[in-house]
Amino acid sequence: MRKPLVAGNWKLNGTRASIDELVQGLLQGMSQVGETDVAVCPPFVYIDHVRGLLEGSRIDLGSQDVCEEDKGAFTGEVSGPMLRDVGCSYAIVGHSERRSIYGESDELVARKFAAARRNGLTPILCVGETLEEREGGITEEVVARQIDAVLALEGIAAFADAVIAYEPVWAIGTGKTASPEQAQEVHEFIRGRLAGHDEGVAAGIRILYGGSVKGGNAAELFGKPDIDGGLIGGASLVADEFLTICKAAG
Ligand code: 13P
Repeated sequence: MRKPLVAGNWKLNGTRASIDELVQGLLQGMSQVGETDVAVCPPFVYIDHVRGLLEGSRIDLGSQDVCEEDKGAFTGEVSGPMLRDVGCSYAIVGHSERRSIYGESDELVARKFAAARRNGLTPILCVGETLEEREGGITEEVVARQIDAVLALEGIAAFADAVIAYEPVWAIGTGKTASPEQAQEVHEFIRGRLAGHDEGVAAGIRILYGGSVKGGNAAELFGKPDIDGGLIGGASLVADEFLTICKAAG
């Protein structure tokens, strides 16, 4: 059985004060969350602070990105060893905002995936199609290309300790959630594609859904056989809403 995972991607939001309040709220409600892994991914500058707040709790820490290099002359970057050093367990790689706004290619994302793994961070590899791609009928082609770039660099065995997040770009921050059926269809495709390389790895990997997940639609999404939790943006900034989502997974 795959243990669900719900991860909050805080994106470019928060201050020390607002984060203190948010984490306080999460800690208060965690006892009502069942058998699910929970993680939060703060902006880099707050990770260490949040680590202190989470001490002794069951909420794990993740980063929103990781540099493909481990050290050296890469101004502005944050490396895998640094993220381990400040207590991260997960690193999101290939988020659609990184791909589209900052021009990250499939190959760069694959290198970031590798950097996370070699530093003991579980990569959360984001994949997903734009509205144009969905309407053009190439959703599976796009998702396959994004996954194949990582397979080519790292091989199927690397997916044994990784997480995939299917995030249709048209559903991110738009209020338009993929229907549970639409999401399940792509999740099943992703698992099937990995099964073509290794059935055991495919059966074990957690595939999260992301894109306008809220307290009100989480249970229905998580009820689908290939949806193993969620990667949550906006709703992860509101403690009660995020906790409702966590409860729906557990
Ligand atoms: P929203 O939940 O705000 O749609 O964001 C999803 C997302 O991009 C999580 O990484």
